[in-house]
Amino acid sequence: MLIKSKQPLLESATTPENVYSERRAILKGLGLGGLLLAGPSRAGFFSKEASGPVPAAAKRYPLSYQKAASASPLVPTPENKILTHNNFYEFGTGKTDPFKNSQGLRLEPWTLSVEGEVAKPGTLDVWELINGAQKQGAQLQERIYRMRCVEAWSMVIPWIGIELGQILKQFEPTSKAKYLAFETLYDPQQMPGQQSRRIGGGIDYPYVEGLRMDEAMHPLTILSVGLYGKTLAPQNGAPIRLVVPWKYGFKGIKSIVKIRLVEKMPPTTWNILAAKEYGFYANVNPAVDHPRWSQGSERAITEGGLFSAKRQKTLPFNGYGDEVAGLYSAMNLKKWF
Ligand code: MTE
Repeated sequence: MLIKSKQPLLESATTPENVYSERRAILKGLGLGGLLLAGPSRAGFFSKEASGPVPAAAKRYPLSYQKAASASPLVPTPENKILTHNNFYEFGTGKTDPFKNSQGLRLEPWTLSVEGEVAKPGTLDVWELINGAQKQGAQLQERIYRMRCVEAWSMVIPWIGIELGQILKQFEPTSKAKYLAFETLYDPQQMPGQQSRRIGGGIDYPYVEGLRMDEAMHPLTILSVGLYGKTLAPQNGAPIRLVVPWKYGFKGIKSIVKIRLVEKMPPTTWNILAAKEYGFYANVNPAVDHPRWSQGSERAITEGGLFSAKRQKTLPFNGYGDEVAGLYSAMNLKKWF
């Protein structure tokens, strides 16, 4: 077992109905739905077939937000897949590890500091940001985006968030601010992958990511605080994570605590680990293969397992070329992959 969980192990007779059904959907996603049928008298026990204890899902709060335009042709991936097929190496490298190991992550309070090349450096109370944005009505928006992982699988996720540019403006970036350096929480006590290189996939933590200033200010770039109508689950990067839909998923840094505006291109986790395989820009590009696999197509995750998923063509800039190709018109994208 990777982590000593403080959470109850499975159902108890006192579990409220809505939590019970949500957990049932998640367990189904893990292929463990049958475990619930054993009934409350067996609460906390697992059959040998189970891959390990399944924790109680962390609470997610309903959000009020502005709905996406109904014209979106994208069909969202089922919620239980989005909640159980994850990459969050701080909680282990297996796809179900983040769900299994992150439910006890302390999300309150959570602050995000914005510093560096800004006239007004400061700290955001993330829960105040979420509540304030809801009260003001229009600011929390649903964005139904494609998500393309560099590992050649994809989902469609109904995010809820705020444009990053709107947030940055409040801190008044200076003319020297050319890039942004993002940082995930560093807390080895809570994140088993940060205690051990084996569990954490050999990464030097904290996980760091970066964007160029114009990418950060682009209206498609959001800080997400929710999905499927509720606040984020820990495994998806609660309480606040980056979403840049035209880039490979690894740019979408989770559980952010710091954004530093800087003059020079900052180091980024996957580029540090393997510079020939993962570039700083990481724009989805079917014309530039990963050295070890093709990026020409992807498995679109719907119901069922990863390998029964339908293959579809990968689109340049993940289908957002009309909106963002202009940001890179002067660049050789084979060199700046
Ligand atoms: N952020 C942190 N801090 N740690 C990670 O391991 N994985 C990245 C990205 N953000 C990762 C991270 C990768 S590789 C992907 S594909 C996406 O998160 C996955 O997001 P999801 O699990 O919400 O689908």
